[in-house]
Amino acid sequence: MKYIKGVHRHGSENFLMLLKDDKTLETKSIIKASTSEKGIKSIMSECEGIEWYNSVSKNKIEYTLEKKIKTYHRIKIEINRSFFNVNPSLNYLMIEKYLDLTINHYIQIWDKYKGYQFAPFHGDLSLVGNVMFNDKNEVLFVDWEQFSDNMNIPTGLDVTMTLMENIYYEIIRYKKIKKNVMKHFVNSIQYLNKSKLLSRYLLDSPAINTLNFINSHTDIWNGQHLKLPVLKLSKNVVQELDNAISKII
Ligand SMILES: Nc1ncnc2c1ncn2[C@@H]1O[C@H](COP(=O)(O)OP(=O)(O)O)[C@@H](O)[C@H]1O
Ligand SMILES: [Mg+2]
Repeated sequence: MKYIKGVHRHGSENFLMLLKDDKTLETKSIIKASTSEKGIKSIMSECEGIEWYNSVSKNKIEYTLEKKIKTYHRIKIEINRSFFNVNPSLNYLMIEKYLDLTINHYIQIWDKYKGYQFAPFHGDLSLVGNVMFNDKNEVLFVDWEQFSDNMNIPTGLDVTMTLMENIYYEIIRYKKIKKNVMKHFVNSIQYLNKSKLLSRYLLDSPAINTLNFINSHTDIWNGQHLKLPVLKLSKNVVQELDNAISKII
């Protein structure tokens, strides 16, 4: 059974199709296809990103580039069945657990880049969709459409973005950053730094530098950067985050 989930999802020029088992209706694989230049570019990035990830990760993502002609690309990605997405409305204790798992997985996968100022980049390690978990507390990074490893992208940017995205959801929920949330944010940045995976380009004022980098390199997101929640954080909040960090690092 085929099910078309979306066309031009969040400004992307790709079709997304879910292939489900006829009997159980369980999703078996997903297909992304595009006929446009941008869309084809993101399918190629997805292949490169998955290859790069698979060369390091214990859990691999299986895929087939089913069609590769100048005007049409189609990729089929097999679902890693034990993995699930987290519910974005979880309480902070749970989110904290999943953020910690995400950061540890990043540290493990990017191990080779410790001490490097620049590193390969996923581009959208959002807990809402692209970071998945299983019952064994293993992590799977999916959706490599924005992958880039041939640009000078500051090491750790993926993680500062994930942390800041979560702050954005926190502000939506409570209109402010609670003490324990701020503490977790600061500790996480410090942990990344201690793990030698925070570029010196982010170290001094990581929050504002994260936004500055995104705003001056929007081409990485193929025209989809406006969907990034971090860009919706107010100046005051960004300053509040950097102030808290400056007391520690
Ligand atoms: N390898 C995979 N294993 C399990 N689920 C996956 C896998 N790849 C994608 N998914 C699921 O499909 C959803 C959509 O895939 P994704 O690549 O994120 O597409 P989109 O570009 O629409 O965000 C993901 O949020 C995730 O729930
Ligand atoms: Mg996604």
